[in-house]
Amino acid sequence: MKIKNICCIGAGYVGGPTMSVIAQKCPEINVTVVDLNEKRIEAWNDEDVENIPIYEPGLSAVVKEARGRNLFFSTDVDEAIDKADMIFISVNTPTKTYGIGKGMAADLKWIELCARQIARVATSDKIVVEKSTLPVRTAQALKNILENTGNGVNFQILSNPEFLAEGTAVDDLLNPDRVLIGGDIDTEKGREAMRALVDVYGHWVSNDHILTTNVWSSELSKLTANAFLAQRVSSINAMSELCEVTGADVNEVSKAVGMDSRIGAKFLKASVGFGGSCFQKDILNLVYIAKSFGLNEVADYWEQVIIMNDHQKRRFAANIVKTLYNTVSGKKIAMLGWAFKKDTNDTREAASIYVADYLLNEQAEIVVYDPKVTAEQIYADLDYLGSRTGEENRKLVKIVNSAQEACADAHAVALMTEWDEFLDLDWEAIYNKMLKPAFLFDGRKLLKKKKMVDSGFKFYAIGN
Ligand code: UDX
Ligand code: UDX
Repeated sequence: MKIKNICCIGAGYVGGPTMSVIAQKCPEINVTVVDLNEKRIEAWNDEDVENIPIYEPGLSAVVKEARGRNLFFSTDVDEAIDKADMIFISVNTPTKTYGIGKGMAADLKWIELCARQIARVATSDKIVVEKSTLPVRTAQALKNILENTGNGVNFQILSNPEFLAEGTAVDDLLNPDRVLIGGDIDTEKGREAMRALVDVYGHWVSNDHILTTNVWSSELSKLTANAFLAQRVSSINAMSELCEVTGADVNEVSKAVGMDSRIGAKFLKASVGFGGSCFQKDILNLVYIAKSFGLNEVADYWEQVIIMNDHQKRRFAANIVKTLYNTVSGKKIAMLGWAFKKDTNDTREAASIYVADYLLNEQAEIVVYDPKVTAEQIYADLDYLGSRTGEENRKLVKIVNSAQEACADAHAVALMTEWDEFLDLDWEAIYNKMLKPAFLFDGRKLLKKKKMVDSGFKFYAIGN
C-alpha cells in the first residue's frame, strides 16, 4: 500500500514542522495540514515565509521548498480528511483544568472531537496516526469512536510519537535517533498500515532507526522518554542546591558525572527549571495513570521530579528577593529571555512565567526582553496565571526590544533563557547603566563568574 495523500490535524509546534519535513522528503505525497485556528493557517500561508507562526531554525527554508508543491495549509478540515489515506492527529493535549483528574490527567477533548470528525467524514479506509502524546490505551478509545460512529469503512490506528525538541526540530526530524511506530501487529491489516508509515519515513530514515512495537508500548515509551529526560534535569537541579551550600560547582559535577559512559553527558545542565509543553504535562499524566492503577509508589516516585522542578523555580525567585535586601518592592528587575529554551518562540510552562509571577507578588517592576517572543504572548502568559488583572500586569511589566534597554536603571538582571546573543552582550556597558549595587542572576549557567564579577556585578548562578 502506497500513501498518496496525508492530512494532519493540528498545525502547531509538532504538526507544522513534522509535516513540512515529510513533504520535503516525499515529493510524491500530498501533505495537507489543517487547523481550526484561521489566523495560524493564514500565517503558515504568508507570502513571506519568514512570517510562519513557529520559529524554528531551518524551518522556513523547508516550508519554502515544499509549500504549494505538495505541502498545503488549510482550514478545510473535512475536505482534507476525505482525501487522505493517512491522517495524523497532532492537536494539543493539555493537562485537564476541570473535573476528574484536574491538574494531572491529559485533556482528551480535542482528540475525541478529531476522531468523531474523521468518523463522520471518512468514506474510504483510513490509517489514523496518533502524533499527539497520549495516555496509554488511548488508541483503543479512538478505535471505539471511529468504529461505532463511522460509515463502515476500515480504520487502522497507529501510534507514532514525536521526539523532536523545539529549537532543533528540523534537525531532529531529519536525523532522528529513532522513529517509533506502534500498531496492531497481530493482524495483517495492522501490519500493512505499519508498513505504509514505515515507507513514509523510509524516504530518509534508515530501517535500523525505525522501531515497530505494539500500540501500548509506543504510547508508554513516549511518556517514559520524557519522564527520564525531565528526571535528569531535576536530578542535576537537586545537586545544584547542594553545590551552592557546599562550594562545589554544579557544572564541574555535571561534567565529571556525565563522562561516565553509563550515564552520558546530555541533559545534565542545571537550570532555573525545565519548561516546555511536554515534560510537566507528560509526567503528571504518568503519575495520574499510575495512581489510577493503584500504583502509589510509582506515582510518588515520578511526582517528585515535578516537585523538584517547582522548587527550583521558586528557589531562584526567592534568592533574588533575599539578595536584594529582602525587598524588591518598587525595584526594577530586567528579565532576559522569556521562552522556555533558546531558539524557539514557545513559552509554554517557561520558568520565566513563574519567576516573574513570584517577583510581581513581591511588588517588583519587571522589564522583559526576548529576541523571539511577542509582548502579546508575554502578557497572555501572565494573564493566564490569574494572579492579578490584565491591567495590573500591563502596568507592572514592560516589554522592550533590546537587552540594553531592559537593563537600564534596573537593580538586577535575571537571565532566564540561554539565547546565544546574551553571551555577546557588552556586559560592562550594561553594568554601567544599572543602579548600584547591580546584581546578575544567571538561571542558565550561561555566563562566566569571573567575567561578570570583573564587570562589577554581584553575580549569582544556579549551582555555585
Ligand atoms: C503537540 C502534541 O500534539 C502534544 O500532544 C504534545 O505533547 C506537544 O506537542 P503542539 O503541536 O505543541 O502539540 O501543540 P500546539 O502548538 O498547541 O498545536 C496544536 C494545534 O491543534 C493548534 O494550532 C490548534 O489550533 C489545533 N487544533 C486543536 C485543531 O486544529 N483542532 C482541534 O480540535 C484542537
Ligand atoms: C522535549 C523532549 O526533549 C522531546 O523529545 C519531546 O518530543 C518533547 O519534549 P522540548 O520540551 O521541546 O522537548 O525541549 P527540551 O530540549 O527537551 O528541553 C525541555 C526543558 O528542559 C527546557 O526548558 C530546557 O531548558 C530544560 N533543560 C534541558 C535543562 O534545564 N537542562 C538540560 O540539561 C536540558
